[in-house]
Amino acid sequence: MDAHESLLELIGNTPLVRLRTPSDGRGAPVYAKLEYLSAGGSVKDRIGLRMIEEAERSGALRPGGTVVEATSGNTGAGLAMVAAAKGYRMIVVLPDKSSAEKVNTLRAYGAEVVVRPGGLPLEHPEHILNVAAGIAERTPGAWFAGQYGNPANPEAHYLTTGPEIWRQTGGRVTHLVSCVGTGGTISGTGRYLKEASGGRVRVIGADPAASVYSGGDGRPYFVEAAGRFRHPETVDDSWPDSYQREVVDEVLPIRDRDSLTTIRRLAREQGLLVGGSAGTALAAALRVAAGLGPEQLVVAILPDSGRQYLSKYFNDQWMLRQGFLDGDPAVARVGDLLPAARRAEPLPYLHHHAPVGEALAVLRERQGTGADPVVPAGPAPVGPGRQPTSMELAGAVSLAQLEAALAAGRAAVTDRVGDHLGEPLPVFGAGEGAAAALAELSGRGCGTAVVLADGHAVGLVGAGELAVLAGAEPKQGR
Ligand SMILES: Cc1ncc(COP(=O)(O)O)c(C=O)c1O
Repeated sequence: MDAHESLLELIGNTPLVRLRTPSDGRGAPVYAKLEYLSAGGSVKDRIGLRMIEEAERSGALRPGGTVVEATSGNTGAGLAMVAAAKGYRMIVVLPDKSSAEKVNTLRAYGAEVVVRPGGLPLEHPEHILNVAAGIAERTPGAWFAGQYGNPANPEAHYLTTGPEIWRQTGGRVTHLVSCVGTGGTISGTGRYLKEASGGRVRVIGADPAASVYSGGDGRPYFVEAAGRFRHPETVDDSWPDSYQREVVDEVLPIRDRDSLTTIRRLAREQGLLVGGSAGTALAAALRVAAGLGPEQLVVAILPDSGRQYLSKYFNDQWMLRQGFLDGDPAVARVGDLLPAARRAEPLPYLHHHAPVGEALAVLRERQGTGADPVVPAGPAPVGPGRQPTSMELAGAVSLAQLEAALAAGRAAVTDRVGDHLGEPLPVFGAGEGAAAALAELSGRGCGTAVVLADGHAVGLVGAGELAVLAGAEPKQGR
């Protein structure tokens, strides 16, 4: 028989495939390690298996026990698959922003899902890591997997991913490119390849540009599962033990737009459907390979499949709305209202801790056009060059609304503006057609919208401005 006795034998051992690169004979070949072909669909199957088996060996997890983890993503699925195959109970704590597909995948494996608010500082007792640790402490027979500090995470890659790449390339690999989330993949794989090659293999991290690993300020970004976000109120941001920085030679920042356009092209041009962090790794790998010679060999680890992101990165409407697509140049577009000079002006935006008195001053300064002035607000730090992302548009305040609240005694000038937020303003991508945007804005009964470019708020537009622009259609040549 040519068959496996257990599903667990189908974890890892993923294929390596050569990608077509823009070659005119220069540059190094790029090979992709397709982690979506592992049994559970991601690179995290490997650590799901290794962490559970190490816990079994040490006695921390016994028959009938419960596996607990805090994760929004693939580690939960990897652990839940292994737990199901081995007969353990599984509890996963997730942030409320997790996609329905991810939550439902965990439930499908029989895991119990506990949802807590996302976007909290690490110190907050409701942060998913603290909630999971608490559940593990209170539940008899429970074991907290803890991928950020569990040595079995990097070890899984030292024992499997690294040796596979060395064998598959016949020892010819010269550069490894991987994203860094917990750091387990890059640390374990990189360490093995450095040892096997006598230090010759160069290890390169690929990181969302806003992530702290590549020197970003830790503000939100759109590539899920890679990099490190830092909540502005997190006091102690110590990096995970799973990330062994001495293994990594350099970390390249990759813009969200580059990650996302890379995977969209890869699917259409080469038939490979992979997730956003794979785009980050590939964009970095292509950049590295372009500067090398044909005798060198780059391997990029592609952590998961694009099927988990069909409603986002592969959805034109989502991409257009977030301002990641340029739209149809034959029609007037929302972004046409925001020439470069105006985009450079700071967006009117209030930090949610600002006092109501300050909000009133900002709003009164914007009075005069007849319309009720309105300004978005949220947790993003304010300052020159700091455009909030669409994820940081928590709500908005209007002058009429604040004045009414003050008059009725429902608000005081010393209150935080965050306690008096109305609904967030509608958002449109800079590439969206102006006429359609105007119709949607009117349909929602709103007079002002936020314009997004590359997921960041770059300006406010009024219905009147959109109407003028839309009236000018069709636009002549561009
Ligand atoms: C899709 C995806 N990409 C990248 C990573 C980062 O891998 P690591 O945690 O090993 O650094 C993860 C980990 O959660 C992931 O799920």
